[in-house]
Amino acid sequence: MDTEFVTKAADRLHVHLNGQESIYGLSGSRIHFATQHDGTPCVLKTTSLRDDGRAGQRELTFYRDIASQVPVHTPDLLGVYEESDAIAMLLSFHGAAEPATSWNRTSWHALATDLAHLHRTVLPEATGWEKDDAERFRPLRAPDIAMIEDFWRDDLGLALDAIVDSRDALEREILQAGTCFLHGDCHTDNILREPDGLVWIDWQSTRIGNPAMELGFLSARVTPSGVEVPEWFLRSYCKERQIEPERMRQLVIAAELSIFVFEWPPYTVFDTPEGTLHVRRRTQYLAEQWLDMVSAT
Ligand SMILES: Nc1ncnc2c1ncn2[C@@H]1O[C@H](COP(=O)(O)OP(=O)(O)O)[C@@H](O)[C@H]1O
Ligand SMILES: [Mg+2]
Repeated sequence: MDTEFVTKAADRLHVHLNGQESIYGLSGSRIHFATQHDGTPCVLKTTSLRDDGRAGQRELTFYRDIASQVPVHTPDLLGVYEESDAIAMLLSFHGAAEPATSWNRTSWHALATDLAHLHRTVLPEATGWEKDDAERFRPLRAPDIAMIEDFWRDDLGLALDAIVDSRDALEREILQAGTCFLHGDCHTDNILREPDGLVWIDWQSTRIGNPAMELGFLSARVTPSGVEVPEWFLRSYCKERQIEPERMRQLVIAAELSIFVFEWPPYTVFDTPEGTLHVRRRTQYLAEQWLDMVSAT
């Protein structure tokens, strides 16, 4: 994203850039901290449309058409500036993201409740929001065996063969969770905590998809920090969605295991050695749970 675009967007949207260092996201977006005329803080999120234009357009469509229909708090869309190859969205500011290590019981409980409400959202038909979720299963359907072997063999030993061989069963199990409206990138850096509740940001991947994958991803993403999603979290979530927690627990184990074994290795470059150790331990635990489940059927 060139500086010229950012300066122009700030100018057109009548905000003053704070000069504070911007945040580069993994998605290729950038967050710039800014101030409105009356001194109210805001953020300018700029996304290039060159790499994956759909992500930027999707998030803008979410804020324009869907945000008012979802039962969770989101930033307000205060303005938009678009050029042919980039989008700038002006959003209300909601404080700094705090690391998962500082999350307390109240925040986890709010997340369980919010996520259940989000997953219960029924969007009016014909919104064009039914993005094909099949992409999500590609790593399971066409696994990169060499990569998996290299990364997991020492930790998982013979269990690795059993997991790779059971991937049809893994997919069938995960699919039992059905589909619903998802945030699509549900991890603690995308959820800001304010005194009266959570504010959900970063809607670039929102879609209709598999809720066990959303829950498995939440747990996988927090693992390198050494934090675990509290053991009661899923019960609170299921109570709110009025579904059976023990069955859902199994589906989420299948989802998280599949994320770690089949998708995670290339992303370990973002983890510290200690973080990777947490991932390896967690995956060993999930593998045992899954293979017990398979042998019980
Ligand atoms: N409205 C906002 N208020 C406060 N901080 C924000 C806001 N939007 C983004 N941020 C900060 O910028 C980071 C990256 O923004 P995000 O929308 O998640 O972009 P990306 O798609 O690159 O992950 C967030 O994790 C958060 O720290
Ligand atoms: Mg983000």
